[in-house]
Amino acid sequence: MIQQQVIAVGTPQSFRTALARSLEVEPDEVGWVQSVTAAEEILVETDTVAHVLVLSPEVKEPDALGLAEFVGRAAPMTAIVMVRDKAWNGLLPAAMRAGIRDVVDLTQGSEELRDAVERAILWAENVSQLRGQLAAKPKQRGTVISVFASKGGVGKTFLTTNLAAALADISKQDTAVADLDVDMGDVFSYFGREPTKAMYDLISLGEGADRETVFANATKLEEHLWGFGAVPDPSVQPPGGEAVGKYLRMLRTNFAYVVVDASADYTDLALACFDLSDAICLVTALDVVGVKHLSKALETLLTIGLPRERFRIVLNRADSRVGLDAADVERVMKIQVDTMIPSSRLVPTCLNKGRPVVLEEPGSEVSDSIRRLATRFVGSPKPREGELMLMPSQQGRRKLFKRG
Ligand SMILES: Nc1ncnc2c1ncn2[C@@H]1O[C@H](COP(=O)(O)OP(=O)(O)O)[C@@H](O)[C@H]1O
Ligand SMILES: [Mg+2]
Repeated sequence: MIQQQVIAVGTPQSFRTALARSLEVEPDEVGWVQSVTAAEEILVETDTVAHVLVLSPEVKEPDALGLAEFVGRAAPMTAIVMVRDKAWNGLLPAAMRAGIRDVVDLTQGSEELRDAVERAILWAENVSQLRGQLAAKPKQRGTVISVFASKGGVGKTFLTTNLAAALADISKQDTAVADLDVDMGDVFSYFGREPTKAMYDLISLGEGADRETVFANATKLEEHLWGFGAVPDPSVQPPGGEAVGKYLRMLRTNFAYVVVDASADYTDLALACFDLSDAICLVTALDVVGVKHLSKALETLLTIGLPRERFRIVLNRADSRVGLDAADVERVMKIQVDTMIPSSRLVPTCLNKGRPVVLEEPGSEVSDSIRRLATRFVGSPKPREGELMLMPSQQGRRKLFKRG
């Protein structure tokens, strides 16, 4: 039997309900993911043969075209339907060339949408029959860990660099540390180095660069540890979400561990990092403002559809005598704290030396806390196929529009 799954792509989540309504099915019979990067992830990670992706008006045009290009290469049995709520700046021919099946104007009512989706299902079904059901099994891939803080100066880069150094040291496997905090990138400083590459050149490695080219663009920072960072350039637009998704997938194909210093704002770039991350470390310092920021960040990220299990809560400078402790944080945030890193003079000392604390002072308490966090990622099983991006309510719900 051939299965199709209709998946609503893009915020707001109510788009899924609107789509289901126009298809005259229950909302949970339509899948939903928050971004094109998450949609691409489903196509690579699941063995469902054909999909129809329906893009919400919030999906930006370059992202939609990038997704179409990806689908043409990696999942050619998938049909894409775009929904717009305004005129389309003459980009319709570009959409068609990219292989988007249909562009629906929402102002024309829901009937047009239903017809378009049904046509797309039929198309996907025909292509599947032609090609057989040889769904490619996902390849071996590395673990992606993002480090995020919505407030600056709390130790995001300190944790990113030391976690990466600990992973490389413990696992002895090739590990990448990627600086995607494009405005404030200081990952390389923690290794006493300066980036030399341009962001554009690094990101374009996502367009199918071979292993040799990837390593030629990396900076060897320590044994088994490779850095990817660009010279900050305020005149250049930060890369878009879809392009960042491709870049990170390229990194995880070439490295066993990829640790990302994610941008400190909820940019498309940061959201793409989260979509592709196996784990997201949220860092805060132990003060009321920091904890509030963390709590708000977690709430925001859960609202856009990221699963709770993906988050790790890290309290940095956790021994500061400031009248707050982990129990307070757990009570306020209603979530367990995963790791506490003490405050230590070794941190600025090692930063000035340009060496990670975990390598320079491996016996210290601060190193020990980060190494213990790293150990939990080493050898931990990857999410099973299909588990990565689907919301719980979508799992096992592939019955919609079954044909065959
Ligand atoms: N556990 C710690 N003990 C002492 N100093 C720390 C600790 N964590 C971070 N710092 C210091 O705080 C400053 C900001 O850390 P950094 O990681 O660069 O912040 P950001 O969150 O902006 O990336 C740095 O000077 C760093 O050395
Ligand atoms: Mg930083």
